[in-house]
Amino acid sequence: MTKPGNRTFAAALALVAAAGGTLAIAASPADTIAARQANFKKMGGAMKVIKDELAGGADKAKMAGAAKTIAAVARAQVPLFPKGTGPGAGVKTDALPAIWTDRATFDGHAKKLIAEADKLVMATGTGNAMAIGAQRLIAAGQRETS
Ligand code: HEM
Repeated sequence: MTKPGNRTFAAALALVAAAGGTLAIAASPADTIAARQANFKKMGGAMKVIKDELAGGADKAKMAGAAKTIAAVARAQVPLFPKGTGPGAGVKTDALPAIWTDRATFDGHAKKLIAEADKLVMATGTGNAMAIGAQRLIAAGQRETS
């Protein structure tokens, strides 16, 4: 038999799911920083896949997959900059203090990257190498550390 406590927890999970949200599980600052750094590397790797494909095989599916990775990872980065994960956390990070003193600017950069990454996904869908190359440069140009 399900205990009331479990039912409450299950109901809470259902609510989170219904809201389309993710359940935040507290991670240590070190884990959070490592996760976002790994994500940035992943984005860089996916950018390179597109660059290399444009210079070589121009495999449309490969480029589309890489663009989708960039768009998904860009979104996944948003919650990975909580308070307490800046330079003061005692863990090596290149994140600048401005992220936490001027959040609006940082969020603006993140939003722009997501928008440009989505356009890159659309460009790879067309298979037009010129359009993909141009949009890849624009998306890669969003790189920031603040
Ligand atoms: C396609 C676009 C981008 C690429 C390829 C990219 C790539 C990278 C790479 C390779 C790193 C170094 C990670 C490491 O230390 O191992 C990094 C760090 C960082 N990037 Fe980006 N980045 C991009 C866009 C952005 C945007 C839009 C923002 C801001 C909204 C941003 C903010 C940062 C920050 C704050 C760090 C330091 C993270 C830390 O050390 O904790 N990046 N990025």
